[in-house]
Amino acid sequence: MKFPVSRLNGLLLGFALLFVGISESKADTVKDTLGFEIGKGSFYLNGHPFIIKAAELHYPRIPREYWENRIQMAKALGMNTICLYTFWNIHEQEKDRFDFEGQNDLREFILLCEKNGMKVILRPGPYVCAEWEMGGLPWWLLQDKDVRLRENDPVFIDRVEAFQREVANRTSDLTADKGGPILMIQVENEYGSYGEDKEYVGAIRDILRKYYGENVPMFQCDWSSNFTLNGLDDLLWTMNFGTGADIDSQFAELRKLRPESPLMCSEFWSGWFDKWGAQHETRSADAMIEGIDEMLSKNISFSLYMTHGGTNWGHWAGANSPGYSPDVTSYDYDAPISENGQPTDKFWLLRQTMAKYVNEGDTLPDLPPLIETTEISSFKMDAVAPLFKNLPSPLYDDDVHSIEHYGMGFGSVLYSTTLPETEDGSVLTVNEPHDYALVYIDGNLVETLDRRLGETEVILNEVKPGARLDILVEAMGRINFGRAIKDFKGITENVTISAPDKSNSVILKGWDVYLLPDDQDFYVNMNFESLDSLDIESGYKYPQGVYKGSFFVERPFDTFLDLSTWGKGLVYVNGHPLGRFWSIGPQQTLYLPGAWLREGENEILIFDIEGPVSPVTSGRERPILNEVKGVAANASTENPIDIIIPEQLEKITETWLPSANGWKTIKFEEAVDTDMIILNIKESWSETGTAAIAEIHVIDENGMRLDREGWEILSESEDVSSGNNTAGKMIDLQESTYWKSDEKSSMPQRIVIKLADKCKVSGISILPRMETGAPDSVKLLEIYVR
Ligand code: GLA
Repeated sequence: MKFPVSRLNGLLLGFALLFVGISESKADTVKDTLGFEIGKGSFYLNGHPFIIKAAELHYPRIPREYWENRIQMAKALGMNTICLYTFWNIHEQEKDRFDFEGQNDLREFILLCEKNGMKVILRPGPYVCAEWEMGGLPWWLLQDKDVRLRENDPVFIDRVEAFQREVANRTSDLTADKGGPILMIQVENEYGSYGEDKEYVGAIRDILRKYYGENVPMFQCDWSSNFTLNGLDDLLWTMNFGTGADIDSQFAELRKLRPESPLMCSEFWSGWFDKWGAQHETRSADAMIEGIDEMLSKNISFSLYMTHGGTNWGHWAGANSPGYSPDVTSYDYDAPISENGQPTDKFWLLRQTMAKYVNEGDTLPDLPPLIETTEISSFKMDAVAPLFKNLPSPLYDDDVHSIEHYGMGFGSVLYSTTLPETEDGSVLTVNEPHDYALVYIDGNLVETLDRRLGETEVILNEVKPGARLDILVEAMGRINFGRAIKDFKGITENVTISAPDKSNSVILKGWDVYLLPDDQDFYVNMNFESLDSLDIESGYKYPQGVYKGSFFVERPFDTFLDLSTWGKGLVYVNGHPLGRFWSIGPQQTLYLPGAWLREGENEILIFDIEGPVSPVTSGRERPILNEVKGVAANASTENPIDIIIPEQLEKITETWLPSANGWKTIKFEEAVDTDMIILNIKESWSETGTAAIAEIHVIDENGMRLDREGWEILSESEDVSSGNNTAGKMIDLQESTYWKSDEKSSMPQRIVIKLADKCKVSGISILPRMETGAPDSVKLLEIYVR
C-alpha cells in the first residue's frame, strides 16, 4: 500500500530549506523557514526556536480505543510532542506479511497526535530495545541460525530495508518538511551499548534517507559514556540518561565536540521496568521534576521515557541480560501516567513544573475525561482442558532442537523420549532450557528448571529402565538488550545423562516433539471438561492446562484481573491477549481494559503451565505490582562473607578513589590468573555510610573488558527499600541503575564477582552513580582474588 503524497506542497518545500548537518552556521533568530530544523544552539519549528517536550508512548502498548486519551493526557502534562518506537516484530509477525491495521495502525496514531496538536518523533528501529521481545526484531530472523543481527549482514539489512520501506510508505508524507507532525527520525538505538560499527549505523541511516529524503532531520541516541563510538558526522547526537543524573556532566562531552548543537535528552527515564522475581522498581518524583526543570531552564529538549508505559500484551515482554531476567507484563514504569491511564502524584507535580514553561498568556490544557477503573467480584472458571490430555500430534526428531527450528515463535514445547537404564544419582542435564522447564519421569513431576537461576540439572533416582522422560519447556520473552539478543527458545542444544560424578555423558536421542503454540485458537480447540467433574482433594493442585470461564459486566470499565492463585501462564479475554502471569510476582494482577469488554457475558481463557491453587479470579480496582514470592535473577542468594575464606585469597591492592562521576580504572601491578575477585569496600564518601556502584568491568591482560555473560555477583547487603538496588545492577549493562548497600549494614561491604572462567585479569573499572557528585562513591577499596 502506498499513500498519496498529498501533503507534498512544492511551494512549502521550497521555503523549508531544511538541513540535517549541524556544522553549518545558522542565525540564532526567528527565520523565514517552515518545517523543523536543527539550528545553531536550538531547534526551530517554522522558523521559531522550539524546545521539544516529548512524551514517550508506544501505541502497541495501549489499546487503540485509548490512544487519543493517552495523547491528550500527555498534552495536559504540558508536552508538545509524542516520541514513539515502531516494533518491527508486531508489524511483520510472519515474514513478508505486513500488518499496519487496527492496533498496529501507526499512521492513524500519528494522525491522532497531529489532530491533537502534538508533534511526533519517530524511532523506527530496526532495533528498539524497549523491554520488548527481542528488542523489536522478529523471531523468524533466527530461522537463519547464522544471521548477524544489528550488523552489516546482507541477510539482516535486506529484511530491515523491506520493513523500513513499509513504515515509510505510511509515514514519509507526514514529516514536517511536508507540513506533517513528524519532526525527526531516529537511526538505530543506543548502538554504543552493542558495539562499534559506524558502517552498519550508516547503512541504517542510508535506508531511512532513501525513503524519507534528504530534508528530514535524523538523529542517533546513546549514552554520554559511549556516543562517540558510532557517532556519524551528519546526524544530530542526543543523550539518554535517567532521573537524578547530573545533567551538565551528561552533556559535557557533546558540548566540547559540538559546541553549537542543540541539546536533547532523548530518553529521560521517569522510572524503570520490572522483572519477574525482583522487587517493583520506583524512582523519585522529585528527582524527575528537578531534572526536567533544570533542562527546561537551560533550553534543553527532552523526551520523558516513559510518560505512559502501558502494557506488554500477550507474549511481547522482553528480557534482560547478562543472565536471563524476563520482564513482567505491566510496563507501568512508575511513569506519571499509570498503566491504566490515570494521573499519578508524579503527574500532578510535574504538571505544576511544566506550567511554568508555557508561552505567556497560555495555560495547560485540561485533562481528558478519565476512564473508570472498578471491581469485578470473584468468579470461578467453568472448565479445564488438562494439557497432557490435549497434546497435538508429535513430530519425530532424532535430536532436540529449538522451537525456531520447528517453525514456531512463541509458546511451549514438550520433548518426550525413553530413558536408558540409569544408576541412582545419575545426572540429567538439559542444555539449555529456555526458559522454564518442567521435567517428568513416567508422568511424575521431578524437577523444574528455571533459566533465570541457571538451573540445568536433575538428579535421577529410582528410575525404572524404559521410563518415559517428558520435558515441558515454556518460552518467555527473548532478550532485548546486549549481545544476547540471539535468544533461541525450547531446548537449545541437547539433553544428556551422565554418571553421578558427571562422567560418561551420553546425548539422549529419539524424541517426540509436541508444539504448543501460544495461540488462542490452539487453546480454544482443546477438549474441555467441566471443573465440577474434577475430583480435587483439598490441598491438591488443579491440573496444568487451559481453563475457560465467563463473567458478566453491566457496562464495560477497566479493571485488574487478580491472578494470585494461579501458577504461570497467559490470559486471553474475548480473544485479546492480556499477557503473562507468574506466581513469583512482583506483578500479581493483569490490566484488563474496558475497551476489550462487552456489555453482558465476557469470555476468559487462562493457560497455566503449572496449574492454579484455586481456579478463580476477580477484577480489582488497583493493580498489585509489588508482591514478590520467589527468587530474583542475579539476586544475592549466598552471603559473600560465607565464601570468603581468607587463607585462599591474595590481596592485590588497596586504593583510594575520588568522589566524582565517570569511570575509574584500577590497574593491578601485574595480571593475575583468577576466577573470583573480591572487592572489600572499607569506606565510602557517603555520610550515612552506604556505598554504591553502577557498573563494574573486569579488564583482561590486553586491556579489554571481559564479557560478563555467565558471571555471578554477590554483595554483602542490598538496599531494596526503593529503586531495587541489588548486586545484579552492577553487571546489568545499564549505567543508570546501581547497587547500593543497605543503610542498616555497616562497613566494610564486600562484593564477590565470580567470573565465568579462570582468566588473566589486569584491573577493574568501576562506575559510580550518575547523580551530581556521584553519591555513595567508594572511597577506600581493597581488592582480593582467589
Ligand atoms: C534504553 C533503551 C530503551 C529502554 C530503556 C530502559 O534507553 O533505549 O528502549 O530499553 O533503556 O527502559
